[in-house]
Amino acid sequence: MYDTNRLENAVGQDDIKISARKVQVFYGDKHAIKDVDVDIQDKTVTAFIGPSGCGKSTFLRCINRMNDTIPIARIEGDIKLDGEDIYDKRVDPVQLRARIGMVFQKPNPFPKSIYDNVAYGPRIHGLSRNRAELDEIVERSLRGAALWNEVKDRLQEPGTGLSGGQQQRLCIARAVATSPEVLLMDEPCSALDPIATGQVEELIEQLRQEFSVVIVTHSMQQAARVSQKTAFFHLGNLVEYGDTDDIFTKPQDSRTEAYISGRIG
Ligand SMILES: Nc1ncnc2c1ncn2[C@@H]1O[C@H](COP(=O)(O)OP(=O)(O)OP(=O)(O)O)[C@@H](O)[C@H]1O
Ligand SMILES: [Mg+2]
Repeated sequence: MYDTNRLENAVGQDDIKISARKVQVFYGDKHAIKDVDVDIQDKTVTAFIGPSGCGKSTFLRCINRMNDTIPIARIEGDIKLDGEDIYDKRVDPVQLRARIGMVFQKPNPFPKSIYDNVAYGPRIHGLSRNRAELDEIVERSLRGAALWNEVKDRLQEPGTGLSGGQQQRLCIARAVATSPEVLLMDEPCSALDPIATGQVEELIEQLRQEFSVVIVTHSMQQAARVSQKTAFFHLGNLVEYGDTDDIFTKPQDSRTEAYISGRIG
């Protein structure tokens, strides 16, 4: 299938944040991810693209062990964060998810105030010593998510009272509040209008100055706009991975070519 040696030659080892090898996922008898090898680079936006049901979300959830919460899911293979096995028995998945944050397709703020949504992670992970420090984290995270100016006077109001686009930016603020090293985003703009989508895309560009972002998207325009690396999945296989420009202009595999030209999908 896809050649790991070529990949390792193409990517400087120092820049690798996440390294996956021979990853398989089964839901009962269903083999949803087949032998996936990939290196995700630091300070880079990586897009996962491919037809519905090809395993993008499943593979994304492997990276912060969200599949652990699905009883019938079984994962094999190896995923390392900075060279450390994230499936090691000594790794606490809750701690891991503070380092590898996630934003979902539908904005899912907690039924709490705007402030408490953002303060949630820092509180459970003990990231602040006092209220002033917590206030600082909340403000920094909301600024980072380009939401501060819209909510600074209503921090005690419920997060669920915000517009859809604001709720999604609140969820991004919640995810960045624990200072993650990687942010996983599963179709983060699919419930947003073009203006809110533009804001989230700008935000992604800023976030990658600090850490690596992996985004699942059905929009090839979006993948081309926001990412530097693209991985194309098809029927549970990672068919092709490379520089976004190359994937979109000179795909090596006929399945990638068919997908990006709209013949499968
Ligand atoms: N919780 C689950 N239980 C059983 N099967 C599942 C579960 N989640 C996903 N699958 C199956 O695994 C395969 C991959 O699904 P996945 O959701 O990862 O695809 P996807 O690429 O994210 O699709 P989409 O673009 O529609 O979101 C599909 O065949 C799907 O039906
Ligand atoms: Mg999905």
